[in-house]
Amino acid sequence: MSKLSKPIGVFDSGVGGLSVLRHLVRILPNEQYVYLGDTARVPYGNKSEETIQEYTRQAVKFLLQIEAKLIIIACNTASALALQIAEELSDIPIIGMIHPAAKAAAISTKNGKIGIIGTRATIGSKAYPQVISQFQSNKTFEVYGKACPLLVPLAEEGFHEHVSTELIIQEYLTSLQSEDIDTLVLGCTHYPLLAPLIQKQMPNATLIDCGEYAAFEAQTILSLSNRINSIEHIITPTKIDFYLTDSTPLFPEIAERFLGFLIESPTRINLE
Ligand code: DGL
Repeated sequence: MSKLSKPIGVFDSGVGGLSVLRHLVRILPNEQYVYLGDTARVPYGNKSEETIQEYTRQAVKFLLQIEAKLIIIACNTASALALQIAEELSDIPIIGMIHPAAKAAAISTKNGKIGIIGTRATIGSKAYPQVISQFQSNKTFEVYGKACPLLVPLAEEGFHEHVSTELIIQEYLTSLQSEDIDTLVLGCTHYPLLAPLIQKQMPNATLIDCGEYAAFEAQTILSLSNRINSIEHIITPTKIDFYLTDSTPLFPEIAERFLGFLIESPTRINLE
């Protein structure tokens, strides 16, 4: 395998990372991808730090074995709690979800008031406020986090237009509304599916989709190291291999909602 044609490894606790893969395929269409979804052990968002770190370690080892040239941790929860562990294991660049989205939010905000929504583990880790504070210069930031644990199952159920989802979003976002935030980070890779309902609730806030900014960062990193696969695409179109730790008959339908196109049959693997 040549250096350029090595795949980009994308890892998530389940299907949420497909919303990141969607941006990657759009921004870097000539690459090969390996997507790893730990569907047997999802959700990570309510698990302990030790467990999330161990699962992330196993996933990164797998992506190193398949000789990825770059790894994207397409899960905010794993990025918030295990990015450093992943970096220590790896001699290739690793991109998490937090840094690119935090930077985008810091640039976007006018009044300095930024909201973060995510899983309990992501919000509890305080990773977003910590990284956002690194961008503080002439602007000062106030960061408001809100855990929204029910949004992951609602997105997976395809309830992205359902009235019950609207009510739950309303309930979760009330506290952020009263803080007058002008920028809201969708700090979970499941949430882009619910963006229209979230935007309806926060009509004046700019929504930050972490997957989009992570994909731009991947483009920058590959481009700076001359590792963008631009020539081989002429012979080989975008190729994505899917690996899952569990697969159900519903998976292709759910995956299509996140990715925007039908996936080829996933390979089942055991990470333990
Ligand atoms: N996609 C995960 C994230 O970005 C949320 C799902 C989970 O709890 O595993 O945090």
